[in-house]
Amino acid sequence: MPEVQKSKNRIVIPSSQDYLVEVDRFLETRLKEAGMNESDLADVAISVSEAVNNAIFHGNKCDLKKKITVRVKVESGTVEVQVEDQGRGFDLSEIPNPVEGDNLLKQVGRGIFIIKSLMDRLDFSFAPEGGTILKMYKSFQTTRRSSSSEAGLPLAE
Ligand SMILES: Nc1ncnc2c1ncn2[C@@H]1O[C@H](COP(=O)(O)OP(=O)(O)O)[C@@H](O)[C@H]1O
Ligand SMILES: [Mg+2]
Repeated sequence: MPEVQKSKNRIVIPSSQDYLVEVDRFLETRLKEAGMNESDLADVAISVSEAVNNAIFHGNKCDLKKKITVRVKVESGTVEVQVEDQGRGFDLSEIPNPVEGDNLLKQVGRGIFIIKSLMDRLDFSFAPEGGTILKMYKSFQTTRRSSSSEAGLPLAE
């Protein structure tokens, strides 16, 4: 797919669900290489898919000209994944709690809650131009000793 830019620690996709599978493949390859076990990998994959869906629909509003960048950084048994869109951001304080009252019955509004449950930490920031950057962190047990070259990889290219 020529619209997809990929390097070892970064994938850039247009704002369409058609590219979710590309992001998933990229993550699986990168995190298996880092020695992440299947269970933690599944948690990260679900979280990133929720975050990328939010970036596609709420952030970039399916505008194919707008991109979503997913960056992975692996350092001493912790993975950090960043999902960045080119949307207008949002007010975190206005997000309803999905496990409160009638919200429990709704089929939507659970993405951020799921990410919070599956990852160790998440951190939203909003770029001055408006885009949302979601950083998610999870420490993991490796299935093998991960190589020392994993340490200290810069997040930027
Ligand atoms: N990247 C984003 N850009 C703009 N708004 C966002 C973004 N991510 C989340 N949101 C806002 O947070 C709300 C909650 O997201 P989420 O918990 O995933 O539920 P849902 O996507 O089902 O609405 C969204 O409805 C949206 O208003
Ligand atoms: Mg969502």
